[in-house]
Amino acid sequence: MDTELIVQAAYLAASGLFILALMWMSSPKTARRGVRCAEVGTVIAIAGTLLRHDVVGYDLVLIAMLLGAAIGVPMAYLMPMTAIPQRTAISHAFGALAVGLIGIAEYYKLASGLAPGSFPLWALMLEMLLGFLTCTASLIAFAKLQEIMPTRPIMFAGQRLVNLLVFGAALAFAGLMIFLPNSSQYLPWFVAVALLFGVLLVIPIGGADMPTVIALLNSYAGLACSAMGFALNNKLLIVVGALDGTSGFILAVIMCKAMNRSFSNVLFGGFGQVAAAASGGADDRPVRSMSAEEAAPVLELASSVVIIPGYGMAVAQAQHRVAELYEHLEESGVEVKFAIHPVAGRMPGHMNVLLAEADVPYDKLVELEDINPEMPQTDVALIIGANDTINPAARDDPNSVIAGMPIIEADKAKTVMVIKRSMSAGFAGIDNPIYYLDNTQMLFGDAKKMTEQLVKELQEL
Ligand code: TAP
Repeated sequence: MDTELIVQAAYLAASGLFILALMWMSSPKTARRGVRCAEVGTVIAIAGTLLRHDVVGYDLVLIAMLLGAAIGVPMAYLMPMTAIPQRTAISHAFGALAVGLIGIAEYYKLASGLAPGSFPLWALMLEMLLGFLTCTASLIAFAKLQEIMPTRPIMFAGQRLVNLLVFGAALAFAGLMIFLPNSSQYLPWFVAVALLFGVLLVIPIGGADMPTVIALLNSYAGLACSAMGFALNNKLLIVVGALDGTSGFILAVIMCKAMNRSFSNVLFGGFGQVAAAASGGADDRPVRSMSAEEAAPVLELASSVVIIPGYGMAVAQAQHRVAELYEHLEESGVEVKFAIHPVAGRMPGHMNVLLAEADVPYDKLVELEDINPEMPQTDVALIIGANDTINPAARDDPNSVIAGMPIIEADKAKTVMVIKRSMSAGFAGIDNPIYYLDNTQMLFGDAKKMTEQLVKELQEL
């Protein structure tokens, strides 16, 4: 059979699998299947590419694959789940750099034979612009999330004008290279301003908005990949890039809605400094606290318990103990549900992933808008390491830095129990009035240890 036909069939199959993967990844129930499907699609796409007639030898490819695996496999196993946002950022940086470098190689290969103003030149310039700016923007996002550099927005006078001028310069160099024959002398300048623009784009954005920015950079990397597909006349890259570009964009919009952040604010920066700006730590009001021994009978006697997990559960890696607690309560005849806030934790779907890992049935996970009407009838809202996502100030205080952010209305439950180590604030850096309510009991301690103790006490009842 014609090799080209096999390559195109492989690309078609891979594209179909990627579309199915995205569809399955949109629900926790089918997400694992989606990931497997995307893995199979990637293997088929790589195999198809290696069959192409323009691949003249496999030795360098093999070395690159081994090198990539030597970095990627330990990264996948050793990186904690809470570091996924920065891991994603660094992957984007390398992916985008590869796209930009391929753009340079293709430019030197093709440009002299192309007519000024022709379509492949446009595609190459777009590919390089998006590739290089995404590379440096992702590196800055990584550095901010890893706290290698200050997470606060970095602002200076006339910043918008400088950004505009740098972007304008990048477009001007691109224009020169598209329309003037033999204009490769502008390429290093074009690359330099594209790299600089990536830095300028992200430095004014605060750490709080960084995960949203990463979703957006994902989108840019996808568009760069699509542009590369047009430049190389590769249909797989066009399809995959478009899928990546649109899904990254949609995810960024969903995250903005869930955090009540304006999309344009995230895009243009100078925002996301809630943690730095807010100084409202815990105040002096007294709180009620109880031990695991005292809390266990209250849970056992409840007819309904809603468990609300948050970032603290992820940090403590308490999901398996939480699943045990759930099983014990269900065995005792208590109706247990898990309330899932879309931005609980530090990445989209963070709680879903952790609870799925601990084999909590998916149908027990209820989204914010479905659980809130049930909260007033709930006997106990058990908050495990969540803070901002259950902060009533978002609903009640128009001056709060998180005003308008949708919350899980745990405060409306008959009894509220909060597992956390201290009175420290959450991600937004603000105090939480729920801790001082008459119906709230604090269970001070590490989420894993405290849940373990609760399970032990329940077993002894
Ligand atoms: P947070 O508001 O971040 O609060 C987490 C709480 O967990 C803290 O108050 C902390 O209190 C407690 N904690 C930390 N380690 C713990 C441990 N080992 N055991 C027990 N408790 C522990 O959490 P959340 O409610 O999940 O809210 C998420 C926040 O992140 C939101 O503000 C959201 O906007 C933001 N954010 C989310 C995302 C995504 S996509 N999920 C992206 C960017 C930003 P102690 O120190 O007192 O224990």
